[in-house]
Amino acid sequence: MALQLGDTAPNFVQDSTLGPIDFYDWAGDSWVVLFSHPKDFTPVCTTELGRVAKLKGEFDRRDVKVIGLSVDAVPDHKAWAGDIADTQGAALNFPLVADADRRVSDLYGMIHPKANDTLTVRSVFVIDPKRKVRLTITYPASTGRNFDEILRVIDSLQLTDRYSVATPVDWRRGDDVIIVPSLGAEEARKKFPAGWTEIRPYLRVVADPSA
Ligand code: BEZ
Repeated sequence: MALQLGDTAPNFVQDSTLGPIDFYDWAGDSWVVLFSHPKDFTPVCTTELGRVAKLKGEFDRRDVKVIGLSVDAVPDHKAWAGDIADTQGAALNFPLVADADRRVSDLYGMIHPKANDTLTVRSVFVIDPKRKVRLTITYPASTGRNFDEILRVIDSLQLTDRYSVATPVDWRRGDDVIIVPSLGAEEARKKFPAGWTEIRPYLRVVADPSA
């Protein structure tokens, strides 16, 4: 069965551009974005990996490690890395798993045989420091992902963990947030002593507590 939110992300040991990686050891106490791309030397993937390299500072600021994966071998990854640096204005600054035997792809359900029975789709897993899967996204091979959206979700998840708030539609860092419905009025008063705006009893809005 496919990995679901709340599942423990399974460990793996696999070769990568940084040599063999034990996933849990590599992740340490950080958040992780594990994402697959269908194939090396393909145009959409090239643009995605360049973009992720440019966003490395944003991931670092959130204590997130990024790791890519495809079913190609290390020599291909390394040769392609030169093209990414030459064409995207940023060199790879995170590891790419070389999953030629598809061990990790199968473990994480990254191959969707009815889409393509040999290549991975564009999967994204956001995994928290307790190794729980907190976000899964699946895009088709022909559509490049929006990594700003992935950062936005990470901001939301980290805020929820710290402050018992949820984030409304199209929320961005600094916008007002919503007190989670499970927090009763008494507890809410302790956490938000300055109060909140009650639009409905279930819709209580408060300023972003991290801003
Ligand atoms: C690409 O990365 O450009 C791509 C890969 C597989 C299928 C279609 C596009």
